[in-house]
Amino acid sequence: MTTNDLINSHRSIRRFQSRPIESDKMERILQCGMRASNTGNMQIYSIILTQQPDNVASLSKLHFGQCSSAAAFLTLCVDVNRYHHWCRLRGCDEPYDNFLWLMSGTVDASLAAQNICVAAEEEGLGICYLGTVMYNTKAIADELGLPRGVVPVITIAMGYPDEQPQQSERLPLEGVVHQEKYHDYSDDDIERVHRIREEFPFNQEMVRQNKTRNLAEIFTQIRYPKKDNVAISNALLDFVAESGMMNQ
Ligand SMILES: Cc1cc2nc3c(=O)[nH]c(=O)nc-3n(C[C@H](O)[C@H](O)[C@H](O)COP(=O)(O)O)c2cc1C
Repeated sequence: MTTNDLINSHRSIRRFQSRPIESDKMERILQCGMRASNTGNMQIYSIILTQQPDNVASLSKLHFGQCSSAAAFLTLCVDVNRYHHWCRLRGCDEPYDNFLWLMSGTVDASLAAQNICVAAEEEGLGICYLGTVMYNTKAIADELGLPRGVVPVITIAMGYPDEQPQQSERLPLEGVVHQEKYHDYSDDDIERVHRIREEFPFNQEMVRQNKTRNLAEIFTQIRYPKKDNVAISNALLDFVAESGMMNQ
């Protein structure tokens, strides 16, 4: 299979076989993560690999029971703790405990994560990202024993697939890519770009089952409503401040 075919056959997997991931396979996958480009080649991230069944079960609970059959959870964290420790040993400043490096570390962790996911899929494994790492950050950080300066930002559930779901839809390229400069969308553009999404049978079924007026209402009223977004944002900001990453 070409890389292009591999990437374009992606679908998230949420149900897994009860079969562990071979350690040599996991090591190859993690090496692919490490090879990703990263800010200043400083690798301001750590990856917590959870594979012991009891620990997977505890972590899954903190992700609201999601992907409980996964063989592994990988939690990618922004980590200035390790870098600062090195700086300290070399008698240097510790200048990375701020918002810029929270962002840079998040970008780096994301790039590593996506390399990991593509490598895992090439090895016949399935993956699902779990955004709930940002909903329950403090409890997850406590569970994983994270010190100050380490903020979990991405979770990947991984294992041998026990399902082969239909691929989800994507917006057409012309709805996302702007040639040379940003061209703001007219109402007609928005209608055209979202048609594929609104006509996708799975989405139409969701609208029908939830008795909502349209798909946008599913997102704004049910899946990610403002009230939840604000509460989760505030908890996340508190955690980031507590972890010492918002110094000026
Ligand atoms: C940052 C991020 C967070 C996500 N969080 C969740 C999650 O908490 N639960 C879940 O079932 N899927 C989650 N997903 C998977 C998305 O729902 C999925 O990628 C999207 O619906 C497209 O489907 P596909 O991956 O099958 O193409 C997440 C994906 C990303 C990138």
